[in-house]
Amino acid sequence: MWLDLGVYDIHTLLAPLIPDQNIEIYMDELEQISRAFAVIIDKKSAFTHHHSLKISERAFKMAQALGYDEKKCRKMKISGYLHDIGKLIVPNSILDKPDKLTKDEMLLIKKHPYYSKFILKQIKGFEDIAEWGPNHHENLTGTGYPEGISGSQFTEESQIMAICDIYQALTEDRIYRSGMSHDDAVIIINKLVDKRYYERYIFDEFLKIH
Ligand SMILES: [Fe+2]
Repeated sequence: MWLDLGVYDIHTLLAPLIPDQNIEIYMDELEQISRAFAVIIDKKSAFTHHHSLKISERAFKMAQALGYDEKKCRKMKISGYLHDIGKLIVPNSILDKPDKLTKDEMLLIKKHPYYSKFILKQIKGFEDIAEWGPNHHENLTGTGYPEGISGSQFTEESQIMAICDIYQALTEDRIYRSGMSHDDAVIIINKLVDKRYYERYIFDEFLKIH
């Protein structure tokens, strides 16, 4: 609710400026546009230069491995491309800060998936895309963010995004540490699976696509 209050004014201010028009686009174009956005999002920080592209690629492979139909696989790809679009509101001075973040800076970073969902929800037909990717910092126990969803609310599709995201984040360099090896990242995610953050069969499937 507090997060909603923060964007209410922006929405009210923008509404009279943006023409109310409906544009229909095909899946191929949608993939291309989403990919272009992914490049913009990833290039915001040198440490994430192919973050969304890799998550999209793995989420697509996972969707295929789990037998999703073609349309759903492509929606997973798009959701991966756009899962971090809310990061565009976080200044680089915070994203690339080498020192410990202040409480307020951490709070702003933790809002980015909320903004991803808020932005994507504006698009008709993006109902699933706006859920799956933007839930990438949630987990089954309800200790994730920004909404703290748990159990059946944290769907298989969202769990795929979360596992792809954490693997990618752990194996990428950060300003305060180097990227981990595949084996070390697997050990860490395995511990999270033991703590019931994600379902075991989804992580097993993830390991098979490598
Ligand atoms: Fe994120």
